[in-house]
Order: sequence, then C-alpha cells, then structure tokens
Amino acid sequence: MTRNKIGEAFLNAKGLTKEFGRGDKKTIAVNNVDFTFHRSEIISIVGESGSGKTTIAKMILGLLTPTRGEIDFEGKPRDISNQAKRKKYWQNIQAIFQDPFSTYNIFNKIDSVLLDCIRLQGGGNLSDNEKMEKMIEACSFVNLKFAELSNKYPFELSGGQMQRLMIARIFMLKPKLLIADEPTSMIDACSRATILDMLLKLRDEINMTIVFITHDIGLAYYISDTVYIMEHGIIVERGTADEAILHPKSDYTKRLLGDVPKIYEPWDFSQGA
Ligand SMILES: Nc1ncnc2c1ncn2[C@@H]1O[C@H](COP(=O)(O)OP(=O)(O)O)[C@@H](O)[C@H]1O
Ligand SMILES: [Mg+2]
Repeated sequence: MTRNKIGEAFLNAKGLTKEFGRGDKKTIAVNNVDFTFHRSEIISIVGESGSGKTTIAKMILGLLTPTRGEIDFEGKPRDISNQAKRKKYWQNIQAIFQDPFSTYNIFNKIDSVLLDCIRLQGGGNLSDNEKMEKMIEACSFVNLKFAELSNKYPFELSGGQMQRLMIARIFMLKPKLLIADEPTSMIDACSRATILDMLLKLRDEINMTIVFITHDIGLAYYISDTVYIMEHGIIVERGTADEAILHPKSDYTKRLLGDVPKIYEPWDFSQGA
C-alpha cells in the first residue's frame, strides 16, 4: 500500500533456525527461514502468538544466537563476535518492543536516556547547548516538550509519552533498520495511529527500513511493502501486501484472513444507497 521507492538489499538471512531445549522438550521456534530486507522497505511479519516472530527479531538484533543459518549485513557475514562490534552493529539496528518500560533503565532520568543517544551517535563532544538543541528537536518531532520531561524518571511518564520517547530515541539514533515488535498493542487506537504516523514519517525522512511484527493482518496490509506470514516457525507466505493478503497461496493465510474483519476489501457502493 505504501508508495515509497524501495532501495537496495542490505540484510539477508539464509536458513535461519532457532531451537530451544533438547530431546522431548525441543521447540523449533524458527525453522529454516530466508528473507531479504531492502532500504526504505516496510515489512510486516504476521503470525499468531508463538509462531516465532520475536525469536526472529532477537536473532536479527543479535540478542539470540541462531542454532543454524547465516545473516549477511551490507554484503558481508554479520560479525558481532565482540562488544565493540556489537555496539557498531547496534548503531544500524534498533528495536522498540511491546512494553515501552522495558526499554529504559528505571534509575536513569529522561535526560540521560537522550544524552546516551547523542553519545552513541558520536556527539559526546558537542557543547551543552548543542546537545540541548538535539534533545529539544527530537522531542518536538514526537510532539513532546523536552522542558516537561527533563529531570523526570521513565516511570513518571504515561504509556503514550513513553512510546513517543522511544520514537524520539529512534529519531536521534537514525538506524538503518528498526524492528517494531507489536509496539502499539499496549496503547489506545488514537495514539496507535499517531505512533504509526511518526514511524512512517521517520522512514520518509531518513530512508529507514521498518519491520513491523504484528498479529494484525489489516494493519500489515495498509502499511507494508512486503508481508511475511509465519506459522510454527515457518514462513508460509511472502510477497507484496497485495500478493500475500489479497491473493494468498497458502491455506494457512486463507484461514487467517477468514478470522479477521475484512477491512482490506474495498467498500462496495454499487448496490443500494
Ligand atoms: N527463551 C525461550 N526458551 C524456550 N522456548 C522459547 C523461548 N523463547 C521463545 N520460545 C518458544 O519459541 C516459540 C516462538 O516464540 P516467539 O518467538 O516468542 O513467538 P511470537 O513472538 O510469534 O509470539 C514459542 O513456542 C515459545 O514458547
Ligand atoms: Mg512475540
């Protein structure tokens, strides 16, 4: 549905697999999946709870080690074998998770959350004024007033303010890839739309690639260039939003579509009224 220009491929996964436990207790959370992400692409990974979505996200982020398979980043095998390399990788790849409170150290004030972003971007030597300007700019991008946040702790903010602050962080960090793991499921429909708008605006401004992880197939249809549908650790459907959702090939996708309101179908005004 989105009409942006998709750029070159920059992240490629091949045969990516994650197993938890062993013997009788073995779960294959992600089973031999392949995918390629392009610059500026909006991707949705859709699947029911337990289908392996978060496990894929954590492997991309380097928070979980794949049991098998490879991830290439910018044309080379990804190397996050030490802390310095991991830090470098995380300048490119960021995530926002379902529970915004889990992102922050509760003992750090908002100022230091934002100052950390400046430091990560190599702005540690800027003057206090320049740092302040960057923090004010990031807050105003998400319609927050820095003056009202500064000196507060994360737990003093509302859920909606926390979500916005997370997006302000992304605005400062300008990653190449953002993984949003069901980021809007905690908040009401109104702020949901605002958050999505902000993320899409950010994509337009910095050509960021966004992976939305969701069980909301209607949302996936509206925002995505590319949709992957997962069942029990396997990608059972992939394609453009139109291909995967309007013309699904797998029985699983057809069943999934049968369960949701048909908001992706155009309204038919041809009869009555
Ligand atoms: N740390 C873990 N240890 C054992 N099993 C796990 C772990 N994390 C996830 N799983 C299992 O892997 C499967 C996929 O989980 P997950 O990736 O969280 O799914 P989703 O995000 O789609 O709901 C589930 O069966 C889950 O119970
Ligand atoms: Mg999950």
